Amino acid sequence: MNLEGKKILLGITGGISAYKSLELIRMYKRAGAEVKAVLTNNALEFVTPLTIQTLTNNKVYINNFDTSDYSPEHISLCDWSDIFVIAPATANTIAKIANGICDNLLTSLSAAYNKPFIIAPAMNCNMYNNPVVQENITKLTTLGYNFVAPETGFLACGANGTGRLADLNKIYLRTAELLNPLKPLEGKRILITAGGTIEKIDPVRYISNFSSGKMGISLAKCASKLGAKVTLISTFKVDGDFENIVTLSAEEMLKEVETQLDLQDCIIMAAAVADWKIKNYSSQKVKKTNTGDSWNIELVKNPDILKTICKKRTGEKPIIAGFSAESENLLQNASEKIKSKGCDFIIANDISRTDSGFSSDYNEVYIIDKKLNTKFIERTTKDEIAKIILESIFEQTGNYIKTGSVCSA
Ligand code: PMT
Repeated sequence: MNLEGKKILLGITGGISAYKSLELIRMYKRAGAEVKAVLTNNALEFVTPLTIQTLTNNKVYINNFDTSDYSPEHISLCDWSDIFVIAPATANTIAKIANGICDNLLTSLSAAYNKPFIIAPAMNCNMYNNPVVQENITKLTTLGYNFVAPETGFLACGANGTGRLADLNKIYLRTAELLNPLKPLEGKRILITAGGTIEKIDPVRYISNFSSGKMGISLAKCASKLGAKVTLISTFKVDGDFENIVTLSAEEMLKEVETQLDLQDCIIMAAAVADWKIKNYSSQKVKKTNTGDSWNIELVKNPDILKTICKKRTGEKPIIAGFSAESENLLQNASEKIKSKGCDFIIANDISRTDSGFSSDYNEVYIIDKKLNTKFIERTTKDEIAKIILESIFEQTGNYIKTGSVCSA
């Protein structure tokens, strides 16, 4: 894969495999990239600045307080580069990044960096398996850092286990993939709904639910990143790389979704649509003095958007997926819903949990298809869940290319 014109910032920390980063520089340069390297003081024990400078044809960066330039280097190097790759990354540096410590130029850069970031750990196998190191890696992965896992084999320290710097080709391919992201959903139009619908009682009050819209927004952002032309119908305004239509009530949402039905390749209903609306909306504020000590509000059924569009669809397009929000009998209720609503997929989530589902940044879901084939996705970020849902749905069409990368929103 071509890296012509790309600017790569390579971080080198103090491990024996630092010598391998010399070859990585050559690989990046051969592919047309420009490389600048930033080293920790410990890295200098393994490789020399002269070697790095000769291979990169650039100054080598080590010191936080280098005053040769008017601009602080931890900011100017961020601005200059398209990606930051730390290879090898020691347990020490990973721990510092995971905890926001900025005690040298490389860790200061890490804290300031807001573009694609790759970390390729290399260390002794006992260090790598240490739960503290693993916890740091999990934390950073959850935050959207891309890890290229070390390999298992004979290590420089004499041990045999996992900790050897990943094959340089893997680090190179991950870099190329993040710099030239594939667009497996290019040409597809996807409609997503998000948020809890708002059913007005009077000009002041309404009934709704605990949906934050996060699941739907993650789906919209991810689909857009993967190349789809996305329309997000939500119950509040959302900024992003997609068209956004705001509707409040279930009836308004139904109208918009119906308008879109024939235009879309796929519709995913992540909105928490109220099953009930107020029978008699009061155009004036209802006064306490008029209701007495109790107030009976009569509710009537809302239209079922998912069911309606599944019935109206004439051919195989669009693919239609719904969510099933359950507090008990998750799989049984979800399986019944896929049949009763007539959709192609149902994504079941447990909304009684406090660590996932409603309002959380995390979710844990079952993706169920019409034949009731079920795929379990254990608790992870909604961004990651969104990507797996989109992959699962579009793998059916046979033209989805796996990217392997997280859709961090
Ligand atoms: O928004 P978050 O805080 O991120 O939380 C995400 C979520 C829990 C809201 C989301 O993952 C979710 O489960 N969305 C669907 C909520 C819901 O309405 O579930 P349901 O089981 O009541 O409905 C099943 C499906 O029918 C849903 O796709 C729903 O959009 C649709 N429906 C429901 C009622 C109705 N009148 N019309 C509908 O179209």
